[in-house]
Amino acid sequence: MTITTFPLGGDLPVNRLGFGAMRLARNTFDGPARDPGTGRAVLRRAVELGVNHIDTAGFYGVGDVWANEMIRTALTPYPEGLVIATKVGPLLGPTGRPTGQAAPDQLRGLVEGDLRALGLDRLDLVYLRVGAAGGPGGESIGERFAVLAQLREEGLIRHLGVSNVDLAQFQEARSVAPVTAVQNAYADDMALLAECERAGIAYVPYFPLGGGHTPLDTTRLEKVAARLGATVPQVALSALLASSPSVLAIPGTGSVEHLEENLGASGLALGERELAELRG
Ligand SMILES: NC(=O)c1ccc[n+]([C@@H]2O[C@H](COP(=O)([O-])OP(=O)(O)OC[C@H]3O[C@@H](n4cnc5c(N)ncnc54)[C@H](OP(=O)(O)O)[C@@H]3O)[C@@H](O)[C@H]2O)c1
Repeated sequence: MTITTFPLGGDLPVNRLGFGAMRLARNTFDGPARDPGTGRAVLRRAVELGVNHIDTAGFYGVGDVWANEMIRTALTPYPEGLVIATKVGPLLGPTGRPTGQAAPDQLRGLVEGDLRALGLDRLDLVYLRVGAAGGPGGESIGERFAVLAQLREEGLIRHLGVSNVDLAQFQEARSVAPVTAVQNAYADDMALLAECERAGIAYVPYFPLGGGHTPLDTTRLEKVAARLGATVPQVALSALLASSPSVLAIPGTGSVEHLEENLGASGLALGERELAELRG
């Protein structure tokens, strides 16, 4: 398939195959810090290969190794058209694992922290990331989303998104301010995806490679990959993008080699036969 662009928020055209920055600083929440020099090389290569949508967060990092810092030092002055999306919500405990949710009055500080760390005057897209690691919590998010809507009114944020939400939380956010993107687990919330498609909202699944384990059937992926002379991650990403025109992929890696492999999915044409085979 040919990777097309998606008009994020109507005015920010991004390639549908982007990059997730979570793995730059460490490969798991408990893992050791990775080499920031390698992280910067990954970022520069991503932009060189056409990535113009980078997903990050102020809480991606450990010690003195942080994704936002790497993005600023590797990519400033930022190239024209590069869209950097961040998330606020989780608060980090001493081990670097998210331990709780920011209260409404803490969100402004988090947004200002992202602005500083990224060296920007305005953030292109900020998601309110709610719930826990296990999925959406179902709690009301209107008050917190209203704080972000206020920051948008003030010009600190261009577009708003929600992350790790269920359909009711998504609708609650939309009743407060326009929602440009939803970032949920690569999962089965088809009603939410359908609503995003209908409304022209981006659906950005996290763990597009299953967090290292593909969410698709490995045997089928391997078969299709072998026939097309492609790799399993490339077929998985191509299938993900083919699943809906609203889907944006943000595969994460701290490796230049894996980055190049993943971006190779943009040249991969999956036909009806392959897609049917992958669906099983
Ligand atoms: N909103 C949220 O709650 C939330 C939660 C999780 C993630 N996210 C966002 O979603 C992005 C993507 O998710 P993710 O990074 O967690 O998971 P992912 O993209 O599904 O998978 C990343 C994992 O796969 C490995 N990997 C990547 N490319 C590979 C390849 N070609 N061959 C073999 N292994 C490969 C990476 O290790 P290497 O680094 O060694 O390549 C890493 O362990 C994140 O970067 C982050 O921006 C958001």
